[in-house]
Amino acid sequence: MCGIIGYIGDRSLKEVLYNGLVKLEYRGYDSAGISVLSSEQNDNKIATFKATGKLHHLGEKIKNEKIIGHLGIGHTRWATHGVPSTVNSHPHNSSDNSISIVHNGIIENHAELRASLTQKGYKFLSATDTEVIVHLLDDNYTGDLAETLRKILPLLEGTYALACISVKEPDVLVCARKGSPLVVGLGKGENENKENFIASDVSAILEYTDQVIFLDDNEVVAIKKDQVKVWDENHNLKTIAPTTIEWTLETAEKGGYAHFTLKEIHEQPKVISDTLKGKIKGNSAVIDEINLSQEELENISKIHIVACGTSYHAGLTGKYIIESELRIPVEVDVASEFRYNNPIISSTDLVILISQSGETADTLAGLREAKKAGAKTIGIINVMGSNISREADGTIYTNAGLEVGVASTKAFTAQLIALYILTLFLGEKKASISEERRAYMIENLQKLPKMAEEILKMESTIAEKVSIFDGAISSIFIGRNINTAIACEGSLKLKEISYIHAEAYPSGELKHGSLALISDVCPLVAIATKSSTYDKVKSNIEEVKARGGKIITLATVGDKEIANISGEVIYVPEIDELFSPIVNVIPMQILAYYTATSRDLDVDKPRNLAKSVTVE
Ligand code: AGP
Ligand code: GLU
Repeated sequence: MCGIIGYIGDRSLKEVLYNGLVKLEYRGYDSAGISVLSSEQNDNKIATFKATGKLHHLGEKIKNEKIIGHLGIGHTRWATHGVPSTVNSHPHNSSDNSISIVHNGIIENHAELRASLTQKGYKFLSATDTEVIVHLLDDNYTGDLAETLRKILPLLEGTYALACISVKEPDVLVCARKGSPLVVGLGKGENENKENFIASDVSAILEYTDQVIFLDDNEVVAIKKDQVKVWDENHNLKTIAPTTIEWTLETAEKGGYAHFTLKEIHEQPKVISDTLKGKIKGNSAVIDEINLSQEELENISKIHIVACGTSYHAGLTGKYIIESELRIPVEVDVASEFRYNNPIISSTDLVILISQSGETADTLAGLREAKKAGAKTIGIINVMGSNISREADGTIYTNAGLEVGVASTKAFTAQLIALYILTLFLGEKKASISEERRAYMIENLQKLPKMAEEILKMESTIAEKVSIFDGAISSIFIGRNINTAIACEGSLKLKEISYIHAEAYPSGELKHGSLALISDVCPLVAIATKSSTYDKVKSNIEEVKARGGKIITLATVGDKEIANISGEVIYVPEIDELFSPIVNVIPMQILAYYTATSRDLDVDKPRNLAKSVTVE
């Protein structure tokens, strides 16, 4: 949700800011803008350029602009307050154009602040919640922007990552965060080439540095070319050691693929083996980042999984894995509901938070709720240094690398692998999975990268089958047991990138109402790979066939019978049902991808969405 970039140094401002926004565009693409402190003839002025719609509109606008300066900020917006328009685009400037700010998040008390600032004579140009911040800075300006920001932050309710510049202090970029991500990139230049960066995530600055400082909530930073000063929430200066980022620039580029989403689908065999690597030793799962004692692990009597969207579907899959192997009850909650449902949590409960970004506001709130109740918490997280990974008792990193496509693909398979690993780990610690069973599970996990490769080889065959959705306005996905979760994930993928409505059900549920929807414009996507309930699913498909439904089925290679009842079949390699979600989800992703491209849609940036949802 929204990307922020900032730079102080001697490179081309236009290039650093615009290229940074290109990398961040996946976070929001309603509009974009930059403000630069133009220092031509030593006369400091803020020049602001904004354009509504996708980022290239801003690119066209600034193409022929001479932008000279050494300090600037940029923003790509996912609107929360005020329509996507040029005037509502960030940066927002003070009335005298002396201060300019960009903001990610929501200022919940903006209406009261706006009313009191209006009374003082401030004129608002935009409908955003953000604009109050710049007028507050102007109203409280002490001659020191960092000090002023520290002074006004307690007035703001809600979440923010903020960056501001002022003509009165041309050598400093001032930032703060609470609930929304922001990293400081430490430039590598020496002497007169010193420079520093800020960004919503490291992808935007990876080209220049791999040394970053992750900021904590309520911290304020003043960044000069050769100095980074951080204040904690009590206004004390603090030192933060930089972290080295291991993601490569390659992960932030499309690498010849038409879309990041397709590239990320193709990365799955490697992601699966990378997530397994280092965490499986012999017949054991080794997770260094779980800071819970043997006694705490042994005492776990109930597990909650809290997540949103695709990560929630990983959670639903995890419930089956954990319950079948550990026989511990697992409850899975949509994070936005969890904390408002008065959840019953005890100190012997383990709460697992699953999040690609590690920044999702609802999931973060769930983590805080769980901690308040005294439960143990573990995050399954992809982005290093993210909020959830830092606040949870332990974190399993998914090693999927940067995921740019708004529709999550490789992060999902990596989350599933992490759940198998966690199950193995708890099973050994609690002595509830035998060594023999662990060996069997590990053997199956190790087959998955190869199987994922085999499925990817069928890409063009799967792509041809998207004609099932010709003329479709809706669709139904079915699966059973563990694959109900995969039906849910398949339907979400289709919805978010192809805009075809889709619903998912356990297959036996179809006859209780939704069967009425089956028609020429509502095909069925069925998961009927070999499983304990294979015959039941087959009967459910028969029921649809008997009513003239259009059907595409995912079946196990060699299953000839299924071809007689399903119009189209996608065959996948055979594996134990427990591990089939990984094998089954990849064709679902490919199907959704090619359905979207057949409709000429922007797969990487589906309408109305943003990659990381840092507001509630
Ligand atoms: C997935 O394709 C979605 N775009 C979305 O549902 C996503 O999974 C959800 O917002 C959760 O994000 P997180 O994993 O970063 O917490
Ligand atoms: N709430 C602000 C707005 O609507 C910021 C949104 C964002 O994070 O992009 O402009």
